[in-house]
Amino acid sequence: MNKAALIVGARPQFIKIAPLALKLRRYYNTVLIHTGQHYDFMMSDTFFEELNIFYPDYHLNIPGGSSGKQTGRMIESLDSVLNFEKPDFAIVVGDTNSTLAGALAAAKLRIPIIHVEAGVRSKDKNLPEQINRVATDSVADCFFCPTPSSVANLNKEGKYENVFDTGDIVYDCLRMFENKIPANPSPGFAFPDNYVLATMHRAEAVDNRENLSDILRSISTTPRAVIMPVHPRTRKMIARFDLEKSLPGNLTIIDPVSYLSLLSLLKSCEFVISDSGGIQREAIFFGKRVIVPRPETEWLELEESGWLTIAGYTFDLGRLVSEPPMNLDAELMRPASETMIENMRKLY
Ligand code: UD1
Repeated sequence: MNKAALIVGARPQFIKIAPLALKLRRYYNTVLIHTGQHYDFMMSDTFFEELNIFYPDYHLNIPGGSSGKQTGRMIESLDSVLNFEKPDFAIVVGDTNSTLAGALAAAKLRIPIIHVEAGVRSKDKNLPEQINRVATDSVADCFFCPTPSSVANLNKEGKYENVFDTGDIVYDCLRMFENKIPANPSPGFAFPDNYVLATMHRAEAVDNRENLSDILRSISTTPRAVIMPVHPRTRKMIARFDLEKSLPGNLTIIDPVSYLSLLSLLKSCEFVISDSGGIQREAIFFGKRVIVPRPETEWLELEESGWLTIAGYTFDLGRLVSEPPMNLDAELMRPASETMIENMRKLY
């Protein structure tokens, strides 16, 4: 049996590997490595428990620090683990520092790399996620692309070999767990009527006082209640910028929630405000409109369908509801994990 190293570290990656991890184990001796980028119980362990992911073989315990330092420390530790385990190939997922560190550590050891969610691109080359994606794709050997536009992006960069339009692994996860969604996200949780679900965490939005204040102010442009499970980064920055006292009256901030609780909140809400790549897709797969508090989205097909509206940092929610969206192209709701495993088995 060949050996696969599966490298993760941040919340969205735990969700994305849930449909893959067990299938991988059928065909490969699978070593799961957690960098420790996300470490709070509600940002990490809860996903392993709830999504039945086997516990990591290695936990590198590398939280926090500047982006460069964190990535550097991860590369150093991953180099030791990969050198010891000598996998036949490594799988990295998405666009976080853990993705880039995994790709670079494997590349330096000449271990072939599969990138899950390859080819996704933003226009802004300075975004941390964009730097991580472009650099990861530049050393990857096999590209699992979630959308036709991500295939086209790689083709534009001259990559054609081992580029697969697999469909979206986020969709697999949702289908895998939809029957387990609890009626209530937490015991006794009282759903406000017609509420909006909001999440935000991106550095360019929440690490900038003006952008963060603008988004929070814009949330008050709806009379509806807005529930926001808060990312630790956003909580820190609200405190650092002293914005607690000026939070909109219709906004309720709650602690981060588990995957199934998030799906429960998604299922019952009116619409979603989110800068998360994963939630933008999950919401629309559930038939909810999404307002994106950013100047752009990487999910062009969703924007074209009318389900997703780019709002920038300042927006008026009363004016944003547009024409009824078109039916979502079935191509965007394709399970990806089987196609990924099939192609993987042909290569390694
Ligand atoms: C990371 C990814 C981002 C992804 C997001 C999902 C990078 C560059 N960014 O951003 O692409 O969309 O994860 O959540 O990799 N923190 C805690 N507890 C935790 C985790 C983080 O308090 O469990 C704190 C960190 O110490 C840090 C801040 O939150 O101060 C940000 O964490 P970091 O890992 O730098 O990136 P994210 O903002 O989570």
